[in-house]
Amino acid sequence: MRHIMVMNAKGGCGKSTIATNLAAYYATEGANVTLADYDPQGSSLDWLSMRPENRPKIHGLPAFEHGLRGLPRTTDIVIMDAPARSHGTELTSLLRHAETVLIPVLASTIDIHASKRFIKELRATSRVAGHQARLGLVGNRVKENTLAWDDLREFLERERVPYVAALREAQNYVRAYTRGLGVFELPPYIAYRDWEHWEPMLQWLDSVRSRPTA
Ligand SMILES: Nc1ncnc2c1ncn2[C@@H]1O[C@H](COP(=O)(O)OP(=O)(O)OP(=O)(O)O)[C@@H](O)[C@H]1O
Ligand SMILES: [Mg+2]
Repeated sequence: MRHIMVMNAKGGCGKSTIATNLAAYYATEGANVTLADYDPQGSSLDWLSMRPENRPKIHGLPAFEHGLRGLPRTTDIVIMDAPARSHGTELTSLLRHAETVLIPVLASTIDIHASKRFIKELRATSRVAGHQARLGLVGNRVKENTLAWDDLREFLERERVPYVAALREAQNYVRAYTRGLGVFELPPYIAYRDWEHWEPMLQWLDSVRSRPTA
């Protein structure tokens, strides 16, 4: 069973957007997907409640209540949507099951600075330091290369965190969310550019580079 966590202590950076889109993507590929929502805000489960009956099923788990208790054994992939402001012991406990941690970062100076601090905190956890979980950064709502973004790229190189995708700002994400869909379920003439942006992340997730070595 594969465990992918989407997390960043910074609020509103796209955690639930990426978690729901990943869940929808793997479900359309025929995988048995569980979407575990660790955020009492419940955005991922809200999205799931709007998912049309005729789309590939995704199992929803209110993980903010009991963690992964009740996870169906038939699950191939668990996508975990973390809450904002996870630090310290809460962070350690959230990471317990994560093999791959996707960190969405918005292209703004405030977000970049906060995310650098968060990545340092993540790197110091025993799970990440002990190579039991791999990190990957996803640029979100990326419009153009700013100076702050160049600085982030340098930081990632130093910290050896791969930059796995750059997603543009697009109404498609809002449109898909309100219909319980992923951008991969929107018609290609609307969403093909977004599909292209997801491709490097999907390839990385498919490769050994995104999995623990031990
Ligand atoms: N690439 C994008 N293009 C356009 N809108 C986006 C994009 N990514 C996220 N959004 C919008 O930004 C808002 C915040 O996104 P989202 O809820 O996924 O972030 P979050 O990190 O889960 O937030 P929270 O910390 O509150 O859990 C939402 O309204 C979402 O639709
Ligand atoms: Mg969220």
